[in-house]
Parts: sequence; structure tokens; C-alpha cells
Amino acid sequence: MCPPEHFRVTYSINPWMDLTKPVDARLAMAQWSDLRDCFRALGHTVHELTPHPDLPDLVFTANGGLVLDDRVLGARFAHPERYGEAGVHEEWHREHGRAEFQRAQHTNEGEGDFAVTADWLLAGHGFRSSPLAPQEAQEFFGRPVIGLDLVDPRFYHLDTALCVLDDQDRSGGGVMYYPGAFSPGSRAVLARLFPEAIVAAESDALALGLNAVSDGHHVVLPQAALGLYEPLRERGYEPVPIDLSELLKAGGSVKCCTGELR
Ligand code: ARG
Repeated sequence: MCPPEHFRVTYSINPWMDLTKPVDARLAMAQWSDLRDCFRALGHTVHELTPHPDLPDLVFTANGGLVLDDRVLGARFAHPERYGEAGVHEEWHREHGRAEFQRAQHTNEGEGDFAVTADWLLAGHGFRSSPLAPQEAQEFFGRPVIGLDLVDPRFYHLDTALCVLDDQDRSGGGVMYYPGAFSPGSRAVLARLFPEAIVAAESDALALGLNAVSDGHHVVLPQAALGLYEPLRERGYEPVPIDLSELLKAGGSVKCCTGELR
């Protein structure tokens, strides 16, 4: 994670980023600290990246790469405003990480567009990641990749529209997603792969309710996604709501703020 010390909305690269809406920097920091403390209380180790004054979106560490099986595929950002973040993540991994690092050749924004299930990597594209990113990830990780087309600009990253709840679950249930974010073909793929998934309503997706982090039992998710609590409980998960309303002004929430070191 990276503290939102320099978090501001100073450019607009997604429909959530409205330059006329000021960010309350102190509130952003307080909300982010709640998230960090919540992960620690759940027993997770949290490392902190050093914030950078020229990189306001560095708080969204999920975009730095994908770490899996002791390998890291480092991001290549789509927008020049965020190019500088890739090097910050690379340096961290080279200094502190245990995994082998490689910078991607094709544009991909890390866990923003990659999700890990028991059997596959899911790879979103359409707004940020290159259509060639899935193939590159498949080659690098040696895992089958399922490419998914994102079609609604409000859900510009896969992690705004889909969350893997249990990456050990082979039953086709451990996922929640919002179908409207995907092309008809990708929707059919998701229905086929995950017949038991939680299908989110638009209102919960718009609260970025799918931008959640699950450890297989606790699902840390944006507080306003009220409609997801009950379906999660019914399936044996424990929803852990967090208010990240200030971060939402840049189009990010729980998952965006969390780069997972698998
Ligand atoms: N303002 C950032 C951007 O548009 C938000 C990134 C959110 N990250 C995520 N993993 N969805 O790039």
C-alpha cells in the first residue's frame, strides 16, 4: 500500500475524476489508514511504499504489477501521468521483494486488469491494458488466461467490475461481478465459468463494491455497496465494510489501494 500523502485529482483519465470536486486530503489519509489498520487487524502484513509528490495516483498500488508464483510482471501504464509509477514499484520489488521481476512489454496496469482464480488468470482489456497483455501474462506465468472485454468507461479496469472471492474455489462460485461492464461474449464466458457467482446490481457496482479484497473469508469492500453484504453472508463470507469516499473521487477503492504479494 502507499499512503495518500500526495493524493489529489489533478488530471482526469477516467470518468470518476472530476477536476471541479476537491479532495479532502486529511479525510483521504484517515480513510486510507482505516483500510491499512483493517488489513493488519485481519492478520495481514502491510508494506508501505514511499509516496511521491509528482505521482498522485501512486496510492493505487494494485496497478503496479501482478505478483504470482514468485514472479512479478511489472506494469506498463497506459497514461503518461502514471508512467513514473512503474519504476517506483520495480525498485520496491528489487529491494524488498522475493520474486523475480520483469517489466511488461505490453501495456497492462497490474492487478487493475488481472485477477487470479483457482485455475486461470482473468485479464481485462478495452480501456487500459493492451489486447496483447493477456498473451504476455500467459507466457510469463504459465497459467491459462481468459481475456475479458470491458465496454463501459465507468468500469475501466477489471477490478472495478469483478472480484475473486476465493482463489482456491474450483466450484465456479468464488467470484462476484457486474455483467453490464462486459461485452456480450465476455458476459457469456463469465456465466459459463462462474455459474454460482454473485451477480452485482449496477448500484453496488457504482459504489465500486466489486473493488474489494478477499482473503477467502473476509471480504473488505466499500461500505456503500449495501446490496453485496447479504449475498456474501449467504455464501459464508464475512463482509468488512470500509469508507473510502475520498479515494472514489479518483475512481479507486479498496482493491485499487492494495497490491497483493501472493
Ligand atoms: N485514478 C486512477 C486511474 O485512473 C485510479 C486507478 C484505480 N486502480 C485500480 N486498480 N482500478 O488510473
